[in-house]
Amino acid sequence: MSSSELVTGFTPENYPIWEGSGMEVLISADALAERIRELGQLISKDYLGKKPAIVAVLKGSFVFLADLVRAIDIECTVDFLAVSSYGNSTSSSGVVQITSDITSPIEGRDIILVEDIVDTGLTMQYLLDNLSTRHPASIKVCTLLHKPARTRVEVPIDYKGFTIDDHFVVGYGLDFKQCLRNLPFIGRKVS
Ligand code: IMP
Ligand code: MG
Repeated sequence: MSSSELVTGFTPENYPIWEGSGMEVLISADALAERIRELGQLISKDYLGKKPAIVAVLKGSFVFLADLVRAIDIECTVDFLAVSSYGNSTSSSGVVQITSDITSPIEGRDIILVEDIVDTGLTMQYLLDNLSTRHPASIKVCTLLHKPARTRVEVPIDYKGFTIDDHFVVGYGLDFKQCLRNLPFIGRKVS
């Protein structure tokens, strides 16, 4: 994303964890809504006559998922898994663990794995390997954001919201130290 604007409504005092810095909008709430409507239509068309099992990766995907499923107008089921990746707050170590698993079997199902962001790709690779062992009929990946500059392992991305430059981003489900998930846009720190 190239053009960005400062969020005039963002009050740094309300988010002390942000340490007084300003916030720049990288992807506005309107742009998110429009793109997610398109993704929902694509998925509805591709899976017409099927009943995909949407598997969302917690926590970061929860806001995206809520909007995405409402943009899908065919039958689907929704399940969740949670992962933790060992590392510091802003980079992934690649050691991934499923801390909470889906609750229904996926054998024979058409899986759409929903993520907030594919950064290094290590989390997605791990999940694709893991879920494949459970013999689904198919697995596709849907991610809101992709940061190709940080790729360490190439994973297939079937549905992508936006490609972004190498910024650490927050909002719309994505966190900084577990906070800022509630921002209605994707933002980044003003440097
Ligand atoms: P990976 O590096 O592709 O394995 O990304 C793992 C996870 O790191 C993502 O699912 C996000 O939860 C988190 N992450 C990666 N980049 C960002 C970012 O810019 N902001 C917030 N979380 C991020
Ligand atoms: Mg995540």
